[in-house]
Amino acid sequence: MKALILSGGKGSRLYPLTYTNAKQLIPVANKPVLFRVIEAVREAGITDIGIVIGKDENGRRVQEAVGDGQRWQAQITYIPQEAPLGLAHCVLIAREFLGEERFVMFLGDNVIQGGIGGLIREFEDSDYHCQIVLTPVEEPQHYGVAELNPDQSIKRLVEKPREPRSNLALVGIYMFDPHIHQAVRQIKPSWRGELEITDAIQWLVDQGYRVRPYIHRGWWIDTGKPIDMLAANSKVLEELKPYIAGFVDRDSQVDERVTVEAGAEIINSVVRGPTIIGERTRIVNSYIGPFTSIYHDCLIENAEIEHSLVLEHCRIVNVSTRIADSLIGRHVEVRRSELRPRALKLTLGDNSRLGLI
Ligand code: DAU
Repeated sequence: MKALILSGGKGSRLYPLTYTNAKQLIPVANKPVLFRVIEAVREAGITDIGIVIGKDENGRRVQEAVGDGQRWQAQITYIPQEAPLGLAHCVLIAREFLGEERFVMFLGDNVIQGGIGGLIREFEDSDYHCQIVLTPVEEPQHYGVAELNPDQSIKRLVEKPREPRSNLALVGIYMFDPHIHQAVRQIKPSWRGELEITDAIQWLVDQGYRVRPYIHRGWWIDTGKPIDMLAANSKVLEELKPYIAGFVDRDSQVDERVTVEAGAEIINSVVRGPTIIGERTRIVNSYIGPFTSIYHDCLIENAEIEHSLVLEHCRIVNVSTRIADSLIGRHVEVRRSELRPRALKLTLGDNSRLGLI
């Protein structure tokens, strides 16, 4: 069995972070989401992995970060995509890589509880032509939605319906046999101009192929928006096995749900978990509250922050207002300014959002 991971797309809902980085490379609990996807695929025993990347800077960044896959004892083949023309378009352009094998397609920005080993085994041992993963959600209109028959077989699949017929969303994990190659050649672009995998699967259903819906009961997060990114971060932090590899001084209070990575220093601070402090990051005279991930090489000094994600090389210094529910990109500086006029002095990237009190 092979794996096809989709890591192209624009990530426009995560601007400004995704102007200078692929959304799949944004870390959740200090590890890029895409690395978590690769690990899930490897844990399921798959070593032959194709990754769809954009023919742009972000594609180059993904390639640079993942490399040849040796780190995971996997073999990686990159499949460049001209433009984000749809999930089914990704299958079209991966035809040569996929050959005649069964494969799992995994969206590179999805985080799921419990891995995919069980799912893959079930599909491998079955005679299904396709297996999809569904989960109940509160706002199904934002996803592909499945309507089931009373016998639990699939009645209809619709991509982002205005009036959803069920609350079962398609999770970004799909398993196929080679019949999907025929399906993706039969469908036409949707109203949003994309070749939808949902339509290709509907074609399989209409042709009488066996498409099995699997209902996932754990949590699952599509990290498309900032709020989803924070939610995914919280969920993964809750499941992290904490360890202290850095230095914590005697004046600090660090509870047992905190991970302190190698080279990090906690000085005269209070850190409440679940939280992770990245390599070489320094926390000085500060409070770090639950559900926070501070990535590598940051300095937090005389500041308070909770339920937030801070990327590498940030400096947050002498800030008297507590920072919460925030997503802070790389090399960001937030500090009190003593210079007159006493005013907020902002240098914000395009599409930044600032919540004042
Ligand atoms: O997250 C689950 C949802 O994913 C499903 O419920 C929907 O049925 C499915 O269409 C998909 O919807 P999204 O609108 O969330 O997909 P998005 O455009 O965010 O793309 C998902 C991933 O695939 C993302 O990592 C980018 C990548 N991608 C996307 C497109 C359209 C590509 O690599 N190439 C593409 O052409």
